[in-house]
Amino acid sequence: MHAQFFKQDPEPGSSSREARMNWSHGIRRTHRWLAIAFTLSVIANFVAYAVGEPPLWLVYSPLPPLFLLMFSGLYMFALPYAERLRGGRIGS
Ligand code: HEM
Repeated sequence: MHAQFFKQDPEPGSSSREARMNWSHGIRRTHRWLAIAFTLSVIANFVAYAVGEPPLWLVYSPLPPLFLLMFSGLYMFALPYAERLRGGRIGS
């Protein structure tokens, strides 16, 4: 009975709270996998420099994931503040 009550979405559609939660979960998972890609490309650079002079594409390979990490990270940083604004509780 109560579970059914809480499952009901007071605001159906893409702007619902549940949809936002799914979206932010996806961003968090993307950030996690980008972090792994970034770390691997940095390690590849260390290994390559130990052997000799790495090709330029390898030297610059950490930058795209780092760039995407910045956006997904800033998004996650802003989430709690955006949520508070929506709830109308900013500054309280
Ligand atoms: C470039 C700018 C970056 C920003 C602004 C940023 C920001 C954030 C924020 C706000 C969170 C969520 C923290 C929370 O739970 O409240 C987070 C989580 C995380 N960040 Fe970043 N980050 C950045 C780069 C990186 C890099 C370079 C790495 C690793 C190579 C990294 C690895 C992670 C991991 C593993 C998590 C936890 C994700 C999870 O919950 O599974 N981030 N980051």
